[in-house]
Amino acid sequence: MQSSVTIPLPSLAETMRLGRHLGQAARPGDIFTLSGDLGAGKTTLTQAIGQGLEVPADCYITSPTFSLLHEYHGRLPIFHMDLYRLGSSAEIHELGFEEYLYGNGLTIIEWPDRLQELMPHSRLDIRLTLVDETARLAILTAYGDMQPRLASLLPQ
Ligand SMILES: Nc1ncnc2c1ncn2[C@@H]1O[C@H](COP(=O)(O)OP(=O)(O)OP(=O)(O)O)[C@@H](O)[C@H]1O
Ligand SMILES: [Mg+2]
Repeated sequence: MQSSVTIPLPSLAETMRLGRHLGQAARPGDIFTLSGDLGAGKTTLTQAIGQGLEVPADCYITSPTFSLLHEYHGRLPIFHMDLYRLGSSAEIHELGFEEYLYGNGLTIIEWPDRLQELMPHSRLDIRLTLVDETARLAILTAYGDMQPRLASLLPQ
């Protein structure tokens, strides 16, 4: 079972508004998976989620491309993964990342397809598509326990 909603993001401001709302609505143990081409806005959306979770403004969220994982602290701990360089899902196991997937923070995962069979069942998947230089399209799909919460995760 899954539910999807498509949200036009005509400007960076709209992406930031969506992200802040997602951050405000996030609960301990939530998992957001972010897909989309290079430059689609996955890290930008993560910065806005951090704002919504009251991560201090002087704490700048950057892509953990080489380290694979960055941790931030706001209303909840945020574990931000960028799995672009992950070799195999076995590496997730070796790195001990599974404990983050089932911990008490918000886990945000860029390039989640790398998880393969370790993909968590309950999650909010956000797929960003480039429309033009300033516009994006977001398709949000809620799986498992996230499904009944989808409406409350969206800005009005
Ligand atoms: N509507 C929009 N939403 C999100 N980002 C936008 C929008 N319009 C312009 N941008 C710009 O697009 C860029 C998105 O870069 P970002 O690093 O967030 O992408 P990414 O998906 O994380 O890429 P990568 O796969 O390389 O990590 C930023 O420079 C951002 O300012
Ligand atoms: Mg990124």
